[in-house]
Amino acid sequence: MNKNKQPIGIFDSGIGGLTILKELVKELPNEDFVYFGDNKNAPYGPRSADEILNFSKKIMDFLMSKNSKAVVVACNTATAAAINELRANYQIPIIGIEPAVKPACLFTKTNNIGVIATEGTFKGQHFISAIEKYKNYVKIFSQVGKELVEFAEKGIFSGQEVEKVIQSYFEEFAKYNVDYVVLGCTHFAFFYKVFFKISNGKFAIIDSAEPVSRRTKDILMINNIKEIEPSNQKLSFYTSGNTDFFRKILIDFLEIEVGEIGEIEN
Ligand code: DGL
Repeated sequence: MNKNKQPIGIFDSGIGGLTILKELVKELPNEDFVYFGDNKNAPYGPRSADEILNFSKKIMDFLMSKNSKAVVVACNTATAAAINELRANYQIPIIGIEPAVKPACLFTKTNNIGVIATEGTFKGQHFISAIEKYKNYVKIFSQVGKELVEFAEKGIFSGQEVEKVIQSYFEEFAKYNVDYVVLGCTHFAFFYKVFFKISNGKFAIIDSAEPVSRRTKDILMINNIKEIEPSNQKLSFYTSGNTDFFRKILIDFLEIEVGEIGEIEN
């Protein structure tokens, strides 16, 4: 089989990675994708790195069984806990995602940035070394965004409860004269409208969806596995959780036509 025609695997603890998939399908219209959401085990944020690594390996095995030519780990938390091990264990390109600390440090005018992510992401080596790199120039303030992941996994994307939580992050950042806020969790893009409303122009908000899509394109090109022939893009979806919930999210937020959604144990 022509390797270029094989799909790209992508996974997250749940629905968060769909916000990355949305960018990927635009950036790479000739590619097919197989998405796995580990909704049954979400949130990953408070779990141990070992536990997340175990889940991630099982998902990788599944995506390999679907013939993936590359895999995007569309989860900051799983990247922090597992990417090195995954790269050592699977012989295909694996693209990870991390909070966009670097651009925020380059753009900030106040030299204070805020990052909202999960506990697991903050504990990871990538984040710790990012702080280390910029520590003489930029102060980085972090907030654990656990509630937002839980809201998203329940299908709650707006309303008073959500606004209250986002308001509390911003109040904290405002105390430290933060001007750039990094959304360091793929679930957060579902709340973009609320973030903008509450920020009311006070903070610039950035995430990693576009850079990861461009990075994926680059990795496909330099490995010579990018599909160049136009094709009818095929998207397949699998979840360890509830397929009706998953379908609703796909239809409501990603406006994606979906066929059957596979239910897989993890
Ligand atoms: N979407 C994930 C991330 O980017 C993880 C959220 C979670 O499961 O806690 O970190």
